[in-house]
Amino acid sequence: MKKITLGAAILAAGQGTRLKMSCPKPLAPALGLCLVDYSLMALEHFYQRCDLEGHSVAVTGHQKEVVEEYLRSRYNAERLSFAWQREQRGTADALRAYFSGHPAAKDYEYTAVICADTPLIGGEDLEKLYRYLIEHQLDAVAATFHAINPHGYGRIVRNEDGGFHIVEEKDASAAQKAIKEVNSGLYIMRTSFILQNLDRVDCQNKSGEFYLTDLFQDDRLVAPVLFPHEETFIGVNTLGQLEQVTTLLRQAKCQALRAAGVRMLDASSLFIDWEVQVGASSVLYPNVILEGATRVGERVVIGAGSIITDSVINSDAEIKPYTVLEEAMVGIKASVGPFARLRPGADIGEKSKIGNFVEIKKSKLHHGVKVSHLSYVGDAEIGDETNIGCGFITCNYDGVNKHRTEIGKNCFIGSDSQTIAPVKIGDNCFVASSTTITQNLEDGDFAISRGKQITKAKMASRFLKTKKE
Ligand code: UD1
Ligand code: CA
Repeated sequence: MKKITLGAAILAAGQGTRLKMSCPKPLAPALGLCLVDYSLMALEHFYQRCDLEGHSVAVTGHQKEVVEEYLRSRYNAERLSFAWQREQRGTADALRAYFSGHPAAKDYEYTAVICADTPLIGGEDLEKLYRYLIEHQLDAVAATFHAINPHGYGRIVRNEDGGFHIVEEKDASAAQKAIKEVNSGLYIMRTSFILQNLDRVDCQNKSGEFYLTDLFQDDRLVAPVLFPHEETFIGVNTLGQLEQVTTLLRQAKCQALRAAGVRMLDASSLFIDWEVQVGASSVLYPNVILEGATRVGERVVIGAGSIITDSVINSDAEIKPYTVLEEAMVGIKASVGPFARLRPGADIGEKSKIGNFVEIKKSKLHHGVKVSHLSYVGDAEIGDETNIGCGFITCNYDGVNKHRTEIGKNCFIGSDSQTIAPVKIGDNCFVASSTTITQNLEDGDFAISRGKQITKAKMASRFLKTKKE
């Protein structure tokens, strides 16, 4: 069976001056993504749910290059293309730009219009609106809601015959301003209906803008579809609203994780980016931050206050409190922290153990390696089951270049030792405490470099004297 076709216009040309951010509004950040990503995700979800065929087009204008560059980096041309609105002369003008920038859009049976700054609208909301349009055989529907404070929104003026029109704030009479049912800015229409009426929209109103809302007239086959929750349609115009939608998205993210079997001790204290994955039976303690492309396996415990960015933590691993990870890998059943720092390229093998105040950068630690206390490991590889004592340092930097350290399997590296890279230590080596390794060790070697101890009997009082007095 041939699929029903629908084109989607994402209105993203406006400036968003009230946000006072340097980025254009569609790129305002929310949980590791940008606002516009949420509109796109909602549309894709909607296409799937209703088995529709079609294409999304972002109408850009203000800071067009920046918006397009971001979107091109994430969505290929089959999923999303662009139309340019030269001047922001109103939402109807934006829709004109959509059709002239993307002529194929005229052939789709239906057209959805969504704004780039309403990230809480979901695929199921679009589905509800679409089903209403189809079932009632209408030409156009607008999603509406009851606003506690309707100021700034277009008011829904219903008539007795089930029709309606929309009056913008600036053009509303005192009686109309009292109406609490408002226009959300989300619409689905028959494309033929838009094409018949869009050119007739003028700018004879208080703003001098071309209002898309003028498509809705009392004598047309149009209807408002009332949605129950105002929250669904929160638009981001101010930093306060950006914070508000971020909080609601955070709650939605935690709810999704909970449904997937993730236990949280205090979800309200967590910041988990939208695309982060966490496996079933994992536990998140309070104040954990999981960012970017982080993936956490099953049965992982993440201790309080840990901050994990773009990292992979495999199943059954444990991240103890106040640990910071960035572009790191943690193997199955490994343990990291408390107070550890894994920097980019840290790759911690299965069952390895990284303890407190340890920093690891660009280093591969194989199976069962232990670096338990106060050490720095950078540009290194450490073999299976090697034990690194307390206060070990890979001296990897000569002031100009970084050099590598290789340590084999089953070694014991005593506390307070250093390796002056580049250097290699074979398998089964023993490095005595306080040793500075400057030369390579072959398999099985023992090395020590330590000042000889001198003991003077009963002489301590000479040095302790001042303190005693
Ligand atoms: C619009 C509606 C209003 C509704 C409100 C919901 C009109 C005339 N009014 O008003 O009824 O209650 O949304 O939030 O449509 N945009 C462009 N090009 C333009 C103008 C706007 O792309 O020339 C984009 C903006 O970037 C934004 C969206 O369209 O994403 C809405 O524009 P905005 O100026 O915020 O419209 P409102 O005045 O809020
Ligand atoms: Ca708006």
